[in-house]
Amino acid sequence: MSSEATVTAANRPAGAPAGSSSPADVTMRLWRGDASGGGFVDYTIENLGGEVVLDVVHRIQAEQAPDLAVRWNCKAGKCGSCSAEVNGKPRLMCMTRMSTLELSEPITISPMRGNPVIRDLVTDVSFHFAVARRIPAFHPGPREADGTYRMAQVDVERVQEFRKCIECFLCQNVCHVIRDHEENKPAFAGPRFFARLAELEMHPLDTLDRRELISRDLGVGLCNITKCCSEVCPEGIHITDNAIIPLKERVVDARYDPIAWLGRKIRRRPSPTPAYVTAALAPAAATGEVISTEPAPRATS
Ligand code: SF4
Ligand code: SF4
Ligand code: FES
Repeated sequence: MSSEATVTAANRPAGAPAGSSSPADVTMRLWRGDASGGGFVDYTIENLGGEVVLDVVHRIQAEQAPDLAVRWNCKAGKCGSCSAEVNGKPRLMCMTRMSTLELSEPITISPMRGNPVIRDLVTDVSFHFAVARRIPAFHPGPREADGTYRMAQVDVERVQEFRKCIECFLCQNVCHVIRDHEENKPAFAGPRFFARLAELEMHPLDTLDRRELISRDLGVGLCNITKCCSEVCPEGIHITDNAIIPLKERVVDARYDPIAWLGRKIRRRPSPTPAYVTAALAPAAATGEVISTEPAPRATS
């Protein structure tokens, strides 16, 4: 079918909104390559209508490029596997309707720029899991006398927002602190993990104090609250407002509250690396992973 075909009300593909540009064919401009380099390749394919970007990428894989690498699992916006940049914006391919894009122009699909490329649209997300291993897990205190744990509904709702995370890492990909600054990665956890840390720190049953870790090792101070991460989150988590800013406030309270400062002076406790931080860093040290425990460096731009 020619891409010049005229679309009328009678032959407009199902799902395409009236008045939208809905050509008979679409051009998908996919990045092909690997860690050694690559470039964009155009694929012209029939516009069936009613599809999401991942459907079209799969049809290209089935009909024109059987060696195309693309990662996906659920096709329902819940596994976080199909993250990519669609026309330069980090998105889930399975949740991006073709009808929301301008189909008269090539649609660019590229791998997430913040991660090293493995092949084509598949990137290496191991950095994010290495950060996850640095965060001490939920550590509840003893149960109540009747053997239960209790917490207020308002506390359940507060942390529930952060538990919606599907680990798509779109927020990590868009964050300028690490997107263009590889050198910041050892000293900056990134927005997904600030949401995880907020979930733990705000949990009323958790007994650990991670504020030193958050400030000194995971670099919350590098975030300048641009909110780019919140804008791309497919789960609508208010990462900046509800996680990062409260974490910054907690860190400041711990460090600069004069009463807390006086208490430390009286008790002569200088603020050493807590034992749980040392324990959390130990697995990374065993695998040879380079993790800085120095104060976080500042991005240069
Ligand atoms: S608000 Fe902070 S964490 Fe989120 S994208 Fe901006 S700098 Fe990164
Ligand atoms: S916080 Fe949102 S954007 Fe970030 S990994 Fe979780 S679901 Fe994805
Ligand atoms: S395939 Fe699971 S989120 Fe897209």
